[in-house]
Amino acid sequence: MPLRIDILTLFPEMFAPVLGTSIPKRAAEKGLVSYHTTQIRDFATDQHKSVDDKPFGGGPGMVMMCQTLFDAVEHAEAQDPRPARRLLMSPQGRRLDQAMVLELAAEQRLLFIAGHYEGFDERIIDGLKPEEISIGDYVLSGGELAAMVIIDAIVRTLPGALGAETGAHDESFADGLLEYPQYTRPREFRGMSVPEILLSGNHSKIAAWRLEQRKLRTEARRPDLWSAYRDRKTEQ
Ligand code: ADE
Repeated sequence: MPLRIDILTLFPEMFAPVLGTSIPKRAAEKGLVSYHTTQIRDFATDQHKSVDDKPFGGGPGMVMMCQTLFDAVEHAEAQDPRPARRLLMSPQGRRLDQAMVLELAAEQRLLFIAGHYEGFDERIIDGLKPEEISIGDYVLSGGELAAMVIIDAIVRTLPGALGAETGAHDESFADGLLEYPQYTRPREFRGMSVPEILLSGNHSKIAAWRLEQRKLRTEARRPDLWSAYRDRKTEQ
């Protein structure tokens, strides 16, 4: 069974260009994943099709209401008997990293809740018990872009989503080092040349050079990743 991804949103049209392009599109065509968007507003029961209201206690902005979201979640979940892991996009959530991406990619079913406006009625969190996920320490206008980022990161890890060669190579970020620098034709461009070693044909020397470059880059650019990498190496 392919991974089933449900997305609950007020803006389903935002997802079509991303899920209908490149790797996410190909993965669906290959039967590795299926995408299902649900319009939260379809579950509004009043005349104005309201999904949000002013916060109790006052304050700026609007808050997503309970009933529409509970009904939308229950409706989407009833479409497939497999239990869904519920994920709510929020800057208050646990911060996404590649380990979490791989963990989510191993699930059978994921349900993304993307809100807009100032936030969610807290009883949505208490009642539906979704895992809150953040894609970084900044605030977006809504959870849609966050959901798309996470879905893209998940889908490309599914076996068969990338070409065979790329798939194996792709594991590299999981070892905690940044990528080595890459070059292609021509050998000389505006006075800048390709490192000689890459033209040598000596594959073991090339591999050693690339590993060294990865370490140097990680140390210079991401001291946090570098110290975690070194800690793991000394433990081994
Ligand atoms: N919604 C608004 N900002 C967000 C963020 N940084 N991550 C996830 N969801 C969000």
